[in-house]
Amino acid sequence: MSYQQEYQSSIDDPEKFWADKAGLIEWFKPPRNILSTDENGIQRWYADGELNTCHLALDYHVNNGRAAQTALIYDSPVTEQKRTYSFRELRDEVALCAGMLRHYGVEKGDRVVIYMPMIPEAVISMLACARLGAIHSVVFGGFAPPELAVRLEDATPKVILTASCGIEINRVIEYKPLVDEAIRISSHTPDCCIVLQRPQANASMLAGRDHDWRDGMENAKPADCVPVKGTDLLYILYTSGTTGKPKGVVRENGGHAVAMKYSMSAIYDMEPGEVFWAASDVGWVVGHSYIVYAPLIHGCTTVLYEGKPIMTPDAGAFWRVISEHGVKALFTAPTAFRAIKKEDPNGELASNYDLSCFETIFAAGERLDPPTYDWLCETYKVPVLDHWWQTETGWAIAANMHGLEPMPPKSGSSTVPVPGFNVQVLDDAGSQLAANTQGFISIKLPLPPSCLTSIWGDVNRYKEAYLQTYPGYFATGDGGYFDEDGYLFIMGRVDDVINVAGHRLSTGEMEEIVGKHPMVAECAVIGRKDELKGQIPMGLVVLKNVVDVDPDQIVSELIAMVREKIGAVAAFKEALIVARLPKTRSGKILRKTLRSMIDGEEYVVPSTIEDPASLDEIKALL
Ligand code: COA
Ligand code: AMP
Repeated sequence: MSYQQEYQSSIDDPEKFWADKAGLIEWFKPPRNILSTDENGIQRWYADGELNTCHLALDYHVNNGRAAQTALIYDSPVTEQKRTYSFRELRDEVALCAGMLRHYGVEKGDRVVIYMPMIPEAVISMLACARLGAIHSVVFGGFAPPELAVRLEDATPKVILTASCGIEINRVIEYKPLVDEAIRISSHTPDCCIVLQRPQANASMLAGRDHDWRDGMENAKPADCVPVKGTDLLYILYTSGTTGKPKGVVRENGGHAVAMKYSMSAIYDMEPGEVFWAASDVGWVVGHSYIVYAPLIHGCTTVLYEGKPIMTPDAGAFWRVISEHGVKALFTAPTAFRAIKKEDPNGELASNYDLSCFETIFAAGERLDPPTYDWLCETYKVPVLDHWWQTETGWAIAANMHGLEPMPPKSGSSTVPVPGFNVQVLDDAGSQLAANTQGFISIKLPLPPSCLTSIWGDVNRYKEAYLQTYPGYFATGDGGYFDEDGYLFIMGRVDDVINVAGHRLSTGEMEEIVGKHPMVAECAVIGRKDELKGQIPMGLVVLKNVVDVDPDQIVSELIAMVREKIGAVAAFKEALIVARLPKTRSGKILRKTLRSMIDGEEYVVPSTIEDPASLDEIKALL
């Protein structure tokens, strides 16, 4: 079928389209009710179907001829370790882990927080929760204790699964003290922590609360898959919004499994048995969908890589992994390629490896900027496909449908809407804009399967944040346009979310932290363009009227505060002390003007500006 036919049928009759796609996976009880509206007025997929996501990812393949096939390849240059798990081995480990969780009181619907580095136990933990029908919430290891604490308070987990440490290139980062601190400052205390001791660090254990992973696994009885409803939750994944409080994006089992399965062939052109590698982290949505769930549900082998694109040991690391494990498709963030390009501008390191297995590069997480795109195409001679998505959807909203009908890519575009996503570009008033006119990218309801149906515990916040801006549409928070051929160009966020090395962060949250410094009167944090990371945060800070302050000292304190509260991953390393912030007469900070000025682009000084000299002062400091 052509892309156009497939897309049109998904828009003309979404229920029929997604009823057909539901047949791609094995249900314990196939859904009859394909799309329904719940008591909150939210549309939900497959409400009466019954399934288990772990069954689809593991047991299904063990029962259908793939028991001995490799399911997971763990490749860790930072520990010089490699290990493979067949589908049977992974199923058995996961069943034991589920038994261990059950022993500690976890049942269907309970929450489990996973704070782990990129080790097989992270994947095993996620699948074990899915096996029990428990809801996991993975917290990225680069987040500091206050971020973990907010998630503990919101998700109220019974159990935390963690490891003694993560390894950042050659630095051992002890996780357990971070977990202890998060529990100390959180108003919610989980019943217990299960800790995997790694050889690089030994975690101290609190008697009665902390349990050793290996002891727990040794004593556990394997648990079977628990049937759940299509609309029961598989996971909560917190993501940055415009305020300090992250949003708990919820993911339902049924729609997610169907979308994952469909995407592996339609978007990524993968066949069961082939090797897929998403070089991301299980703490991000890309890791959830394309390290763990989609490849396994599709019967592919997935790679779990505990390393970096560079320095572990060099910029040839990606090509070594691809060649060694027979990877067909690589999915990563453009920032990883910018890092490689800096170290190996002519792509020479790739020629050390046999890459005959390698067919496609997929990029997402931030805009694939044309210079990086052009460099990739010229250097590696495989199709380079940008695709656009968000934590909220769990899979691509726009992509080059490589498995359906590959299209000629256009530099700077994530190609066309994925079937199921009725993407429209709207103006302020909610009217559809003509081709080549930039506006707010919105998705006409219903959203396809896998997209969030609430924010954990707060359906009103969900409605306010996403559904009320344009009634009948989901507001994505991204701006952009369609060109005359229907290609979609995503130009960046229209809110206070920034994207730092593919990590989604909130400038609003950083402002809240900086604003708490006793010397700070007010501040703005702006995302500034960065050659490597895409964007990095920059603070503009007005100090209180006090004498004898050392501005450099204050800037160091602010940097330390953001690192301590959010984590190193925020990369907040730059702040300017200014006399005042440019504002409109009604008191709104001129963020758009500031952003353009800081990026060295042309900008218009709005007529509503209160004090034009404030802009000149900042310009002089840059
Ligand atoms: N645990 C603890 N700390 C972590 C961490 C983790 N899991 N991940 C990152 N950090 C720390 C880093 O050590 C670094 O600390 P530093 O400021 O003390 O040096 C900081 O957080 C920033 O990390 P990062 O964003 O990774 O930047 P970097 O400069 O260390 O590396 C890249 C730059 C491009 C190599 C790196 O960002 C990368 O590999 N990106 C790949 C893209 C990606 O995975 N995106 C995710 C979404 S798809
Ligand atoms: P996250 O929820 O962390 O996946 O981040 C989602 C945000 O990243 C989107 O709202 C976009 O702003 C940005 N993003 C992701 N993929 C792309 C892409 N291919 N092109 C442009 N922006 C992207």
